[in-house]
Amino acid sequence: MIAVMATVSVDFSGSHVFVSGGTSGINLGIAEGFAAAGATLTVSSRSPERVDAAVQRLRGHGGEVFGLPADVRDYEATAGVLEQAHAQHGPIDVLVCGAAGNFPALATQMSANAFKSVVDIDLQGTYHVLRAAHPLLRTPGASVLAVSAPQAFLPMLAQSHVCAAKAGVEMLVRTLALEWGGAGIRVNAVVPGAIEDTGGMDRLAPTEQAQELVRGSVPMGRLGAGADIANGCLLLASPLAAYVTGTVLPVDGGWSLGGAQSALHELVTRAASGA
Ligand code: COA
Repeated sequence: MIAVMATVSVDFSGSHVFVSGGTSGINLGIAEGFAAAGATLTVSSRSPERVDAAVQRLRGHGGEVFGLPADVRDYEATAGVLEQAHAQHGPIDVLVCGAAGNFPALATQMSANAFKSVVDIDLQGTYHVLRAAHPLLRTPGASVLAVSAPQAFLPMLAQSHVCAAKAGVEMLVRTLALEWGGAGIRVNAVVPGAIEDTGGMDRLAPTEQAQELVRGSVPMGRLGAGADIANGCLLLASPLAAYVTGTVLPVDGGWSLGGAQSALHELVTRAASGA
C-alpha cells in the first residue's frame, strides 16, 4: 500500500524565505506569494530605494520582513547580507536565487564586458548566493529555487549572454542537487514564461500589438501573472515536492515548447530594424 499524504499545507508560517533580486518584477511576486503564505522574508537587490519600497510593501501582508542592498556580483557584500538575514530571522528555509540582468544584443554587437556583465549577474551571482547561503540553510529541510529562463534551453537571437548564463544556472541546480541531497537540501529551478506587468515584458513588448504577438505564442493563450510563478515556487518549496530535487519546472502556459523562441526572434528582429 502506498501511503499518500492526506492534507497538504502551503502554510509557510515560521519559515524564513530569502529572495535575491526580490524587490521588483517576478522576484517581488515570488516574495509576495511567500509573504501571503505567512513566511518571514528577507529580500535583497542592488538598489537601496527598491529594497526599502519592497520591504514596506511586503510588510503589508502582516509578517516580518527584512531587507538590505547588495550586488550579487560582489561576493563579500552578498555573504554579509545573508549573514545579517540569518542573525535577524534564523536559518533559511527557502532560498530563491532570482537576481538577473538582461538586454538584447547580438554577440558581435556587444562588448566583451557586456557579455561578462550578464554572466556575472546571472551565473556567477547565483553561485555567490548559493555558496554564501549554504552554511545558513536549515538542514535537513531547506528548499533552494533558482529562477531560470527559456533561454537556458532554447537558443535565441541577441541572447547569447543570457542563454550561456542560464544554461549554466540550470546545470548548477542539478549538480548542487547531487552534492546537497544528502544533507536534506533540495535544489530546483523554475522557468517563468511571458509574465505581464514586469519590466522585462514592458521592454520586450512595449506596444499592445507586440503583447498580442507574445500572447498568441503561448499555447494556453494568455500571459502569465506574477502569482503563477509564485505558486510554482510555493509548490516546489512545499511538502508536496519533498522528494523532488534537481528538476527544472517551466511555469509558462507551454511557452517554452517552441512559441517563446519564435515570438522573441520576431520582436528582436523588429527592434533591430526599428519597426
Ligand atoms: N546593448 C549592448 N551592450 C549593453 C547594453 C545593450 N542594450 N546594455 C548594457 N550594455 C553593456 C554596457 O555598454 C557595458 O559594457 P562596456 O563597459 O563595454 O560599455 C556593460 O554592458 C555593462 O553595462 P552597465 O550599464 O555598466 O550595466 P550594469 O553592470 O550596471 O548592469 C544590466 C547590467 C544587465 C543589469 C543592465 O544592462 C540593465 O540594467 N539591464 C536592464 C534591466 C534588467 O536587466 N533587469 C532584469 C530583468 S531580467
